[in-house]
Amino acid sequence: MSDAIETHQTELRHFAPSSEFVARANVSDSSLHDAGDADSETYWAGQARELLHWDTEWSKVLDWDPPNAKWFVDGTLNVTYNCLDRHIESGHGSQVAFFWEGEPGDERAITYSQLLEDVSRCANALKELGVQRGDRVAIYMGMVPELTVAMLACARIGAAHSVVFGGFSSDSLRGRINDAEAKIVITCDGAWRRGGVVALKDIVDEALLDTPTIEKCIVLRRTDHGNEMTDGRDIWWHDLVDRQSPECIPEPMDAEQLLFILYTSGTTAKPKGIMHTTGGYLTGVTSTFRSIFDIHPDEDVYWCTADCGWVTGHSYIVYGPLANRATSVLYEGTPDYPDKDRFWAIVEKYAVTILYTAPTAIRTFMKWGVEYPGAHDLTSLRLLGSVGEPINPEAWIWYHDVIGGSKTPIVDTWWQTETGAVMISPLPGLTTLKPGSATFAMPGIGVDVVGDDGRHVGIPGGGYLVLTKPWPSMLRGVWGDPERFQETYWSRFPGLYFAGDGARYDDEGYMWLLGRVDDVMLVSGHNISTAEVESALVDHHAVAEAAVVGVHDPTTGQAISAFVVLKNDHEPSKALEKELRIHVGNLIGAIARPKSILFTDDLPKTRSGKIMRRLLRNVADDETLGDTTTLADPGVVARIKDRYLSVDAEDDEVDDLEENQK
Ligand code: WT7
Repeated sequence: MSDAIETHQTELRHFAPSSEFVARANVSDSSLHDAGDADSETYWAGQARELLHWDTEWSKVLDWDPPNAKWFVDGTLNVTYNCLDRHIESGHGSQVAFFWEGEPGDERAITYSQLLEDVSRCANALKELGVQRGDRVAIYMGMVPELTVAMLACARIGAAHSVVFGGFSSDSLRGRINDAEAKIVITCDGAWRRGGVVALKDIVDEALLDTPTIEKCIVLRRTDHGNEMTDGRDIWWHDLVDRQSPECIPEPMDAEQLLFILYTSGTTAKPKGIMHTTGGYLTGVTSTFRSIFDIHPDEDVYWCTADCGWVTGHSYIVYGPLANRATSVLYEGTPDYPDKDRFWAIVEKYAVTILYTAPTAIRTFMKWGVEYPGAHDLTSLRLLGSVGEPINPEAWIWYHDVIGGSKTPIVDTWWQTETGAVMISPLPGLTTLKPGSATFAMPGIGVDVVGDDGRHVGIPGGGYLVLTKPWPSMLRGVWGDPERFQETYWSRFPGLYFAGDGARYDDEGYMWLLGRVDDVMLVSGHNISTAEVESALVDHHAVAEAAVVGVHDPTTGQAISAFVVLKNDHEPSKALEKELRIHVGNLIGAIARPKSILFTDDLPKTRSGKIMRRLLRNVADDETLGDTTTLADPGVVARIKDRYLSVDAEDDEVDDLEENQK
């Protein structure tokens, strides 16, 4: 049991690690923190050497020419050798890498040996198609084992993958393929979703109508619902991959070889292709996975419920766990199919010991009720994790008590697509927890909270979250746009990485994350840019102008609220509202569909024409309006507010869960 110091306010409760947990924890003293504080470069070099196999040792740990970093200069290694071959060589080939659970209930246990053979076959297939080191391969699949195989196959031969989440639209997929100039796309005929089929290949076909760089499309048969194969372009996975040799030599790659591009939303309509490279990224995810998730590879069964389409899946389903020789669960479907206890049935079935999920999912489970987890034996769980957005203390306590049986530590991990690996988190055998606080910086990571002047705010104090030192898994830039890289992350505070999040220190120096401070919304823990949704809305022929804000939502953290000005010849209607939501879904993906749309005849703007989203947020959150003196027409907000209050926000739970779990 945790030694909770009971008080009436959950925020003030402290949870020290139990002596039982401490006794077997990978990290139970401050030596890692001390080493990281003493000299972060030496610390990271130590981690890289201790945890990974290098074919050539680096000549220099860090080459830092702000904002451009090179880690482990001249070092070479192969990511998949570290994730697969070396475990087999040390006698663990028959250990399960993935217990895969298909949504319809089919299952596969894939050992490290099998995974290596599958990866090698797929790598050979890519080579046969002419894929070379440095080429980009787009991957658009459901959560099937072949998705991880495809990612690792790219890594084996030095091609960069660009995984596009299967919930994104054909337009989004096309944009990402074209931005990265991908040569190959790998997909599935369809994906299972709540007993139905999402026709992924049809979406790909539409995307490929205008993707000049794509030469081939590899299609895995999963749902068998029948689809057109385009001659000369489309190839079945089973025709191409299965006949390949199961051996493919893991060639050493330069530490700075591009490992992947992953797109994330920023403050403009165009997503940013975040670049991660080989040696530093693998060092970051391997080291953090070991210390945060306290992995004991011979005993633990770990399950991260994210999708590989997000960075969480890259770092903590694929690379971090495999490099640590973990046994993981991989699940294809949603948490409510066939019933709302599916997650707990999976925990029980595989005796999951470590579970990593998102606050939005936890709040959904709270809403569904304790009877669902209550129907299953969850006593195997010994550690829980949270990621994606701040976890409110109430959800933290529920997760701890109902899922964790009041005995499991919770690691609340703060990080971003850009950081590659976790930057702020408790270490479960060391850190005394406070529900809702992500606690402290990871060893070797420099974190601070600064004011507008870029100076440390003091303790207690609130301001902007920054990273003060380069770190191995840091993004190496925005694909094709070095100015945007500099501008977005490195120009606000000279010499500091600006994360875009607000944060505060409490009086004990614990860190509390406060959400985004820029025009990025966090819906179910995922970045969506206001600009991207606005541009999708104005793309519709009836729309003259649109403004979008993220408003507080009890389940998804933030929900998208849109304010739309129609063109003269169009009238507001429920039908049009629905049409607009579908339109946004078609252009970006279901996750970006506004939850509410309010038609208005004007938007609040400054005299220079800038939309004041803060005021719209206040309207939608029903707060006092604050200062409206800089508005060109101060009456406009009052009119919008009147109208907003007279409309019942329609509460159809649009595929709530689809957004939740991904
Ligand atoms: C943004 C990054 C990291 C993988 C999933 C999201 C928010 C993430 C936490 C947390 C408070 C969090 C931040 C961050 N965020 N984890 N534990 N506590 N906020 O990756 O899509 O790149 O989003 O998610 O606002 O900036 P992403």
